[in-house]
Amino acid sequence: MEIRISKTYEELSRRAAGSIAAVINAKPNAVLGLATGSSPLGIYRELVRLHKDEGLDFSQVTTFNLDEYVGLSAQHGRSYHHFMRENLFKHINVPPERTHIPSGTTNNYRAFCQWYEDHIRACGGIDVQLLGIGSDGHIAFNEPTSSLASRTRLKTLARQTIEDNARFFDKPEDVPVYAITMGVGTILEARQLVLVASGAGKADAVARMIEGPVTSMVTASALQLHPNADVFLDEAAAANLTMREYYNWIQEKKPGAPQS
Ligand code: GLP
Repeated sequence: MEIRISKTYEELSRRAAGSIAAVINAKPNAVLGLATGSSPLGIYRELVRLHKDEGLDFSQVTTFNLDEYVGLSAQHGRSYHHFMRENLFKHINVPPERTHIPSGTTNNYRAFCQWYEDHIRACGGIDVQLLGIGSDGHIAFNEPTSSLASRTRLKTLARQTIEDNARFFDKPEDVPVYAITMGVGTILEARQLVLVASGAGKADAVARMIEGPVTSMVTASALQLHPNADVFLDEAAAANLTMREYYNWIQEKKPGAPQS
């Protein structure tokens, strides 16, 4: 895991967006795994800026989102479909038919999940997967005790997650109890992972993800098993890391490291 600590949310977003842009520049038909929540908003703003000001081209890109609430249609104002349209898709030139988000309204969840997995594979697999982290250490909607080998499936949300995400809804009772989510195993198959976290509310989950044991109690800790995972943090999210000085030392020494 490579850990980069930034002074501000804007800086961490710029750096994380830079990693994603580098993948697209190297491979114009890259397959991106995308995430929702507050954490990636700065990255999306920066990707939109790179598209508008510097010509970052999404015309051959394919995208797969991590998750969606069960019961919310693509048009629903709190759905992740809506979130992605408003915060990214409508501002860039990705062809809508190449964007994929799990369906919250299919009449056969099991079949849909299988199709989603198969379609990711048919598109060549995910080149870079963007991730946030829940305050209970989850990635996507893989709540504590989710198998680290899990695949795309229907999941019951933890009370903590429902409480955390209630801020996006009019009242807590409106937060769906179920979601469809990529599994930890699905996520680990992406060629590169980029996880972003900011704010003191994430400090505990971040420390457990990076420095704790690999455990299904903190599904983000599965990133320790991935050979190419980058974690972008701000100072507040990094506050509980005991090896913080070492992570900064690595970044400082990086330019001088032998190249081959
Ligand atoms: C939800 C999403 C996750 C996200 C998490 C944190 O549970 N399913 O993908 O990482 O929220 O959200 P936020 O970035 O808003 O703190």
